[in-house]
Amino acid sequence: MNVQTLLFNAMITLLLVFCNYYLFSVADHLEKIRKLPLNSREGPESLAFDCKGKGPYTGVSDGRVLKWGGHRNKVWKDFATTSPNWRKEICNGTDSYTMEPTCGRPLGLKFNNKTCQLYIADAYYGLMVVSPKGGKAKSLVTKAGGVPLRLTNSLDINQETGVVYFTDSSTRDYLQAIFNGDSTGRLIEYNTKTKKSRILLKGMAFANGVALSKSKRYLLVAETGTARILRYWLKGNKATKVELFSKLKGMPDNIKRNKRGEFWVAIVIDSGLLKKCVISNETRDGDHCYGLADTLESSAIKFNEKGKVLKELEDLGGAFQSITELNENVDGTLFLGSLSMPYVGIYEST
Ligand SMILES: *[C@@H]1O[C@H](CO)[C@@H](O)[C@H](O)[C@H]1NC(C)=O
Ligand SMILES: *[C@@H]1O[C@H](CO)[C@@H](O)[C@H](O)[C@H]1NC(C)=O
Ligand SMILES: *[C@@H]1O[C@H](CO)[C@@H](O)[C@H](O)[C@H]1NC(C)=O
Repeated sequence: MNVQTLLFNAMITLLLVFCNYYLFSVADHLEKIRKLPLNSREGPESLAFDCKGKGPYTGVSDGRVLKWGGHRNKVWKDFATTSPNWRKEICNGTDSYTMEPTCGRPLGLKFNNKTCQLYIADAYYGLMVVSPKGGKAKSLVTKAGGVPLRLTNSLDINQETGVVYFTDSSTRDYLQAIFNGDSTGRLIEYNTKTKKSRILLKGMAFANGVALSKSKRYLLVAETGTARILRYWLKGNKATKVELFSKLKGMPDNIKRNKRGEFWVAIVIDSGLLKKCVISNETRDGDHCYGLADTLESSAIKFNEKGKVLKELEDLGGAFQSITELNENVDGTLFLGSLSMPYVGIYEST
């Protein structure tokens, strides 16, 4: 072994030690999860806490929004429904993808803290709102710029002005959108006072999660099809400009900000199977395609405002397949949503 080889080996060793140190300091696994079971109803995609900090609330695959009754009575209670056609005989308890257009699919949820109303992004019924007591949600926006919303996905609210920011993933057909070069996704602003909506960004390859920064100066928006997080400036000299916030290894889903101003991004790592499913045209056979979500690997990343990775969670054991959202409540407890699992997760950090 000559000196050069020795030096080279030493360098590699140092590099590995450094990498390991870095990875272990930010990475963690998701085995430490407590579950709030949903009694066979699947897919608690998004989570929300109300104006008193109670919850979580979640939207499930049969079109209902449920509220966790707390640890004492350990039950999920009916809170709201989105579809005007929701009937308990056909909808209650269904997890069939083919029933979604009839029963609705509440994806994004967020409470307005002043009015205590819940705003809902329903995949099929657009942007909606429901009173603090729940019940049937009312439709607010079903098209923007004259073009109908086809997959309303995620939302956030400016708690001072009440302005709602939401995404319409695609103006075309669901999952096809991600892989068939579709870029018709949009980021939209809805003013609750004037009742007018305005398109902020269009031409996105599957617009997904959206989160308003703590300063309210910008939005982060997930572009799932290109595995990127974008930053859209609302204020300052960059207002209306968009820039890259982070390029990821997997496809981002929802983004949620915690009270410290950091962002949790849920990521689906293995896009391969999903891709196959879409290309083989099995979206028509929706249930089958949905089942694929069970085999996807997931992870999550926490970013600071500069885009630096603060923490990574990996679902190596597959205990929590296809994480869709990570949402911290007022106490800083981290709740996890999922596309396909019959429970909401609580991450017990160490
Ligand atoms: C909403 O109100 C609750 C209760 O007052 C508070 O704990 C929480 O931080 C507020 N959330 C936001 C986003 O302002
Ligand atoms: C749906 O079914 C559950 C039991 O599985 C029941 O507790 C709930 O009240 C039902 N909700 C509606 C609106 O029918
Ligand atoms: C895919 O589905 C569409 C719509 O149902 C159909 O028109 C098309 O022929 C199908 N393509 C393949 C390759 O099966």
